[in-house]
Amino acid sequence: MTMQDKVNELLELRVKARLGGGEKRIAKQHEQGKYTARERILQFLDEGSFEEFDMFVTHRCTNFGMENEKHLSDGVVTGYGTVVGRLVYVFSQDFTVFGGSLSETVAAKICKVMDQAMKMGAPVIGFNDSGGARIQEGVNSLSGYGEIFQRNILASGVIPQISAIFGPCAGGAVYSPALTDFIMMTKNTSYMFVTGPKVVKTVTNEDVTVEDLGGASIHSTKSGVAHFAVNNEDEGIEMLRKLLSYLPSNNMEEPPYIPTNDPINRLEDSLNQIIPDNPNKPYDIKEVISSIVDNGDFLEIQPNYASNIIIGFARFNGMSVGIVANQPKYLAGVLDINASRKGARFVRFCDAFNIPIVTLVDVPGFLPGTGQEYGGIILHGAKLLYAFGEATVPKVTVILRKDYGGAYIVMSSKHLRADINYAWPTAEIAVMGEKGAVEVLMGREIKGIENPEEKAAFIAEKEAEYRDAFANPFVAAKYGYIDDIIEPRNTRFRVIRALESLKNKRLENPAKKHDNLPL
Ligand code: HXC
Repeated sequence: MTMQDKVNELLELRVKARLGGGEKRIAKQHEQGKYTARERILQFLDEGSFEEFDMFVTHRCTNFGMENEKHLSDGVVTGYGTVVGRLVYVFSQDFTVFGGSLSETVAAKICKVMDQAMKMGAPVIGFNDSGGARIQEGVNSLSGYGEIFQRNILASGVIPQISAIFGPCAGGAVYSPALTDFIMMTKNTSYMFVTGPKVVKTVTNEDVTVEDLGGASIHSTKSGVAHFAVNNEDEGIEMLRKLLSYLPSNNMEEPPYIPTNDPINRLEDSLNQIIPDNPNKPYDIKEVISSIVDNGDFLEIQPNYASNIIIGFARFNGMSVGIVANQPKYLAGVLDINASRKGARFVRFCDAFNIPIVTLVDVPGFLPGTGQEYGGIILHGAKLLYAFGEATVPKVTVILRKDYGGAYIVMSSKHLRADINYAWPTAEIAVMGEKGAVEVLMGREIKGIENPEEKAAFIAEKEAEYRDAFANPFVAAKYGYIDDIIEPRNTRFRVIRALESLKNKRLENPAKKHDNLPL
């Protein structure tokens, strides 16, 4: 064999490997509106940057005649490349090879890129499209999942981990994505569940479709498992690249800085009008967000889950920030179990990866009721409180309107080590709203008035008195609990100034093995 023959042999093997489970199965994948494992990687990474590992790996199973069916690369494509010039590691399950099922060798390939990513301090992005554990391999497949989970756990908070679910992801396999930072799902072509419809029917007698049990719409609205639900893979891949643009490569780096042509002192006059005169009228906090961040560009996370709190990434004068904001337009922006969990996880992600947090507050308090109490709002609300209090990244807070009770403390108040706290003149910072306050404080007097008109007039007078005394930002400002009262239209400039001043912030929590936040 000449050298050229050997090179040709290599090239032929490469062509074969790239065909995965073969043309027929590739065609089926395409018919379903799905890309193949390699197509996903090539589209995701910068052009020409993909370096593949382990193309020649095959499985070692000899059960059920498996020794006669081997595919180069086995059921996953792995390697590294760049996204906008920055190193990332990828794995992409290949549904055309045994349904992308996880064999011992598939697991070893995934572990290899995860280990490499940890050494290099680079993100791992996994494209999931798999029938789960490779049935023929039994416990070896389970051990493979265990190895991956363990790596997910150790990598958590060290490198960003992102899961794109572009096909099936079922059984214990869901726990790897669940351990990662962000989960994206494609609508109609992906699903995630611990047990499928057939088992559900046997155990609970429920009739449910795959889509209604674990489709993208369920996980992006009801369960909160998915952070992004996209219409198709093209949209998803573009969003993954955008998401990475806000994140540092690891916990020892600062997030990328992207210069902007949006003037830092841009005045936004509309903000001086945005708060309705009637304090019970809603407005859209997203209008505030988009009018103060660079070029109005806001990458919202979990937009359709617990919409009473808004979270996402944006930039202020090129600096990447995480935004947490109450949404008066949805449930009056109240904090409930789901909103607290959603906000807490995001705050902890930002803190782990050195991303400053800007908090916009308009919150009437925590949601009352047995539903919330029985569900453990005490514990879940404490998660958000814990997350803000624990965070050592720069924290800037702007109180727009309501900021009542426990929620006042929770929403990145001065008392939880927020660095710079501003209030708009429309801010109302108090223990509770005027109705509740007057009822509690004046209950006896109110009861003593028999004439209904007189009673109503008395209540109205006392409520107005209370509002004048407490429902404003000046009391808090008097004590230094807020640093300044700012004109709404100046918010962008003031937040940027604040963030610039905090660039070199150094704050450390006490040494500990790890915390014991209220899970
Ligand atoms: C081996 C598998 C496989 C698996 C699919 N295939 N899943 N091979 N192990 N888990 C193979 C099929 O035999 C088929 O091979 C090819 O992949 C495509 O599968 P189809 O069934 O034809 O595709 P489709 O109709 O699209 O259905 C996809 C599917 C179905 C819904 C995922 O394949 C399925 O139900 N698979 C089994 C799912 C499952 O129960 N997995 C175990 C979950 S428990 P050919 O040769 O025909 O192309 C688990 C435990 C993990 O994962 C625990 C971790 C802790």
